[in-house]
Amino acid sequence: MTTATPKPRTLITGVDGQIGSELFDYFRDKDGAGQVVGLDLRPPRKPDWQQHGHFEVMDATIRDNLESVIKKYNIRTIYHLVGILSAKGELDPNLAWHVNMQSLKHVLDLAAEYNIRVFWPSSIAVFGPTTPRDNTPQETVLEPRTMYGVTKVAGELLCNYYFHHFNVDVRSLRFPGIISYKTPPGGGTTDYAVEIFHAALQHQHYTCFVSPETTLPMMYMDDAIKSIIDLMHAPAEKLSIRTSYNLTGISFAARELETEIRKHIPSFHCSYEPDYRQAIADTWPIRIDDSRAREDWGWQHQYDLAGITEAMLSNLREYYEQKHSH
Ligand code: SER
Repeated sequence: MTTATPKPRTLITGVDGQIGSELFDYFRDKDGAGQVVGLDLRPPRKPDWQQHGHFEVMDATIRDNLESVIKKYNIRTIYHLVGILSAKGELDPNLAWHVNMQSLKHVLDLAAEYNIRVFWPSSIAVFGPTTPRDNTPQETVLEPRTMYGVTKVAGELLCNYYFHHFNVDVRSLRFPGIISYKTPPGGGTTDYAVEIFHAALQHQHYTCFVSPETTLPMMYMDDAIKSIIDLMHAPAEKLSIRTSYNLTGISFAARELETEIRKHIPSFHCSYEPDYRQAIADTWPIRIDDSRAREDWGWQHQYDLAGITEAMLSNLREYYEQKHSH
């Protein structure tokens, strides 16, 4: 008796993270729970994953682990979201290099061997103090000062290399700060723009770790998920960039976000105590030019600052109400 090849499936690494957890839900709702496989170093925070989908607890920096999952589930596409972000990476740069580079290298090698499509997120962290900060072009100086940024530049070059030399269909986006309510971000410089909403609802006060003038590119999670799906659906011949596309939604200063939240919660106030993350934010762009994404595959964001603020506050209100009623 021969064993039947399992149906082709999608793998999400780093599935317990901010983006991974929502991308998992997206695929589970669209294709059914059996079609998507999550992988993370730790068991999922959401217990229903084990009931409603495939989940593997393992270290993505070990090649054999990834290969066993690819074979077991007949993986055809990998969303490789494992990564140590900018602020956490500065606390342990060796770990950031190891996790970010080793896992990506294995994913690309296995993608070449097993003919797998890959999505991998890059970041605004590829830019640095020598990059033009306003309307940052697609092709520009990439001299980041964080280890996270170094791994993203090296990773982009690796993706480009594997596309040209091994024909790996790998696609990537330089994400701005992502604002979401379901899963907290894990150690980024842009995390203040998520923490502030929780603090506003719970304490009407937030101590912000960047200055009020700090302006960074940001995006709401629904737009981020849409950008990943749109990019992965785009015909290959439309894509002129195989390093990583500049991508953005909006840019605002921390003070502007504070003011927007106060429109909904008049008693809210924010104090500012910049820490080491300020120095990271100061090397990043305030606005980036994502016209190539718009031209090549029709990228369009939907959420502006008012829309993000409304969505965050109403979703988090519901979340806290449910939490307190249990
Ligand atoms: N949100 C990320 C960070 O702050 C940027 O890619 O590290």
